Amino acid sequence: MAKGRCFQLDAQKLLFLFSLAMVCLSLYTLLSDRGHKNASGDIHANSLATSSGAPDVTSTDATDQEWTATRRLPQALIIGVKKGGTRALLEFLRLHPDVRAAGSEPHFFDRHYDRGLDWYMSLMPKALEGQIVMEKTPRYFVSVDSPARVHAMSHKVKLIIVVRDPITRAISDYAQIVSKTPGVASFKTLCFRNGSGGGGVEVNSQWSPLWIGLYARHLERWLTYFPLAQMHVVHGERLVRDPAGEMARVQDFLGLERIITDKHFYFNQTKGFPCLKKPEGSSQPHCLGLTKGRAHPQVQEEVIRRLKDFYRPHNLRFYELVGQDFGWQ
Ligand code: A3P
Repeated sequence: MAKGRCFQLDAQKLLFLFSLAMVCLSLYTLLSDRGHKNASGDIHANSLATSSGAPDVTSTDATDQEWTATRRLPQALIIGVKKGGTRALLEFLRLHPDVRAAGSEPHFFDRHYDRGLDWYMSLMPKALEGQIVMEKTPRYFVSVDSPARVHAMSHKVKLIIVVRDPITRAISDYAQIVSKTPGVASFKTLCFRNGSGGGGVEVNSQWSPLWIGLYARHLERWLTYFPLAQMHVVHGERLVRDPAGEMARVQDFLGLERIITDKHFYFNQTKGFPCLKKPEGSSQPHCLGLTKGRAHPQVQEEVIRRLKDFYRPHNLRFYELVGQDFGWQ
């Protein structure tokens, strides 16, 4: 009887130990399976680092979280201006291993806002912790709704604006219109209209190529949402003359190490612009495409003089707002 009871106790112990072992085994299987998925399911630093030119380090140097690239909303935006040199700036910034930038213009805050932030985020490249995600859509600068919408996404986002003499910018814009719509009226015709009340001919400031150049007016809208310290204005003419100098200031503003320097650029005589010795993901020199650096039509001196008079007070106001003289007078 006592022997039978003893046997019963041993059987219970055995059953308990067996169940414990099964629980441990399940837990082990579950955890190792998760670890395996993590290692193969997402982009990891090694592959990304190689494609972005970041230094190659081994996986033992960092935690899993640091190694996993994820999609997130941008921390910096190039908001304008059209024809200011925004593509050049973005392509130059892409050289930096700590920058991940969307290739095409998302137009989220001006055109596709109703698609929601998840849609917007899906357009961003995956980035590692510490990398800055950014995009450029020059239309944001002049879009009435964009400042409030950008602010609603993040009040900390850094804003970059590339500006250029508004008259040259307008001619550049017009050259693009002509390339898409041959036979369009002359620049002079589009710049002026009959004044109201028989007041003679006046500058048509409603015409988009001229209206975009009213930088102070557009900037004032942004300044109601963001402090100037959160914005950086790139000097478009200097970006052509001295790309490395201008990129040093942009990198400082973004809190990036100064990695993009003189050694990344060379001046291409045929193109008439600085080009990249080794763009991101390539070992071949590269200039921007044919739509950047187009030939401009000849514009009469008289038209230029009248446009200078028109822009003078707007430019001065812009210099005042930014605290910098761009020398367009
Ligand atoms: P043009 O075509 O009138 O010369 P965006 O990219 O914002 O549309 O600006 C286009 C302008 O960028 C060009 O206008 C050109 O002047 C300027 N730009 C600045 N740096 C450049 C570069 N390295 N290569 C080509 N264009 C550049």
